[in-house]
Amino acid sequence: MTEQRKKVTLPVLFKKVADGAPITWLTCYDYPTAYLQEQAGIDMILVGDSLAMTMLGYESTLPATMDDMIRHTQAVRRGSPSSFLVGDMPYMSYQPSVETAIRNAGRFMAEAGCDGIKLEGGSEMADRIRGIVDAGIPAMGHLGLTPQSASALGGYRLQGKTARLAKKIVDSAKALEKAGAFGILLEMVPDRLCKLITERAEDCIIMSLGSGPHAHGQLLIYHDMFGLYPRFKPKVFGNAGEVILNGLKQYAEEVTNKSFPQPENYFTMHDEEYKELLSMLDQEGHEE
Ligand code: KIV
Repeated sequence: MTEQRKKVTLPVLFKKVADGAPITWLTCYDYPTAYLQEQAGIDMILVGDSLAMTMLGYESTLPATMDDMIRHTQAVRRGSPSSFLVGDMPYMSYQPSVETAIRNAGRFMAEAGCDGIKLEGGSEMADRIRGIVDAGIPAMGHLGLTPQSASALGGYRLQGKTARLAKKIVDSAKALEKAGAFGILLEMVPDRLCKLITERAEDCIIMSLGSGPHAHGQLLIYHDMFGLYPRFKPKVFGNAGEVILNGLKQYAEEVTNKSFPQPENYFTMHDEEYKELLSMLDQEGHEE
């Protein structure tokens, strides 16, 4: 049994920012992976609505429901008790109204044991952030490539390339910070834009996903980094997908050629017990 590490809280995260120590953040959707991330000492875990794609095989994140999110987040919490756990508000769990947003953020906290939530959108979502924060729930924003709006954004592509669009992102970051967001994720914006927003943040943790090295920390999608999801490949840190695929092929081959299972892979019965079983069955046959 490994020793349990100290709980990662907001003050711990802000201390890292003050010390200039980058924050580590990964997505996670299940117990065994959460257990590994806990052992690796990952600071923050995001149970992303990307689970609709990486775990459930949908084309986009939109089909993820609150119930899907809660179920997976509970499993992650069991595997990683001490990371700072962020629940990702799925499509239409916060867009309709501030009240809907507060109720669903509350579910993440009460039912799944989250430490905070994240939602997508800029200035137009500042009132949702304010409502959630006023309800006592730590909230993060998400700007740049926001996958729930992929259709409106023209696909999964770099955002904020022009000065005009970049200015909108800078303004949104300020609006979310003013609304009380403890952090903002910048997904796929140019590195210089990410740097500028990080430098201007006063009391807000800026995290980067594909937005360069200048943020307070980095986020990656677990399935992308281990070759477990075929569509996106940012940087592969180990090809678990290839290892698993080779193992699956070997299993199929060994069952087919009858080299699996071997005696060490199964259990046998003592001779006396087996003999007694045969004689019981034999007796039964005579009685019929
Ligand atoms: O759902 C998710 O994993 C996310 C990331 C793309 C940031 O929101």
